[in-house]
Parts: sequence; C-alpha cells; structure tokens
Amino acid sequence: MSEVRGGLDGREPTIVSLSINGRKRTVLIDLRTSLLDALRDHVGLTGTKKGCDHGQCGACTVHLNGQRALSCLLFAIMAEDGEVSTIEGLAGPGDELHPMQQAFIDHDGFQCGYCTSGQIMAAIACVAEGHAETDADIREYMSGNLCRCGCYPNVVAAIRQARNRMRGA
Ligand code: FES
Ligand code: FES
Repeated sequence: MSEVRGGLDGREPTIVSLSINGRKRTVLIDLRTSLLDALRDHVGLTGTKKGCDHGQCGACTVHLNGQRALSCLLFAIMAEDGEVSTIEGLAGPGDELHPMQQAFIDHDGFQCGYCTSGQIMAAIACVAEGHAETDADIREYMSGNLCRCGCYPNVVAAIRQARNRMRGA
C-alpha cells in the first residue's frame, strides 16, 4: 500500500516543494499548515500579512497561478504544483517598483500599511482580470480587502492610475 504523505492525520512533518516568486523553496511542514503560515513562518516572506486568518479581510492576498488567492484559506500543499507570487516578487530588476506599487505611493493608498500588501496583490488581479473599467467595478472587486485606516478612495485612484500604466496608456 502506498504511504500517505503526512501520515493518516497529516501531522507528520512532510517535505513540500513550492515555487514562490520564481524560486523553488522546500519546507518541512505539518500538512495542515496554511499557505500563509508557510510563507511567513517557514520561508520568511513576511510581506504577506495575517489579519483575520479566516478569509474575511484580504490582508493575506497572494497570486496562485496568476489569480488572486487568500493564502489563509489554502493549505500550502495545495500550491505545490503551482506558482505563488507575493508582494516581495513584484519589484523589477534594480528594485524598480511595479506600477501598482508606485500608484499606491503616488495616491497615498495606505496609512499604517498593514492591509497594503493584500490590497496591491488584489489590485493587480483586478486590472489583469478586467475588473477595473469603472470606479464601481474597482470597488466591487476590491470589496474583500478591508482597510481599517479607510484608504478606500485613494486605493481606487491608485488602481485607476496603474490600470492605465499597466496597459501602456
Ligand atoms: S488573513 Fe486571510 S483573509 Fe484575513
Ligand atoms: S492602511 Fe492601515 S489598514 Fe489599510
């Protein structure tokens, strides 16, 4: 009989291979570990934030295979065959900021910054998936990303700017 990874209850430390920001990373984890905890506690990528840890706030938003994903709701092993992108992977060569990062700076799209990684990752997906045509579309798509500092109008303005730059307009 083939061996069950992690044992029957998933608790046995198990090697999981992840591709994060184009780099292969191997972690030894309990298979019940969330992708968020794997990123923060096992890989050391703490840019992705934990707010609620149950899918309510958007602070943990990353991209999995180019689509936005709430990393607190995924087991790390669910990303084993995919490509994970986090805020740390956005800047280009020479630390040139992604247009969305620059737009958040230009429009004061943050105050304390705790929600900002998740906002930016969701905002990039918002543009990439074609949900940034109008302010109403942007607000609807971004409604899962909460900001206790109330930066919502500035976030919409930032997405508008980045949308045009991402399209080369
Ligand atoms: S930490 Fe994942 S949605 Fe809040
Ligand atoms: S900038 Fe403080 S929670 Fe959004």
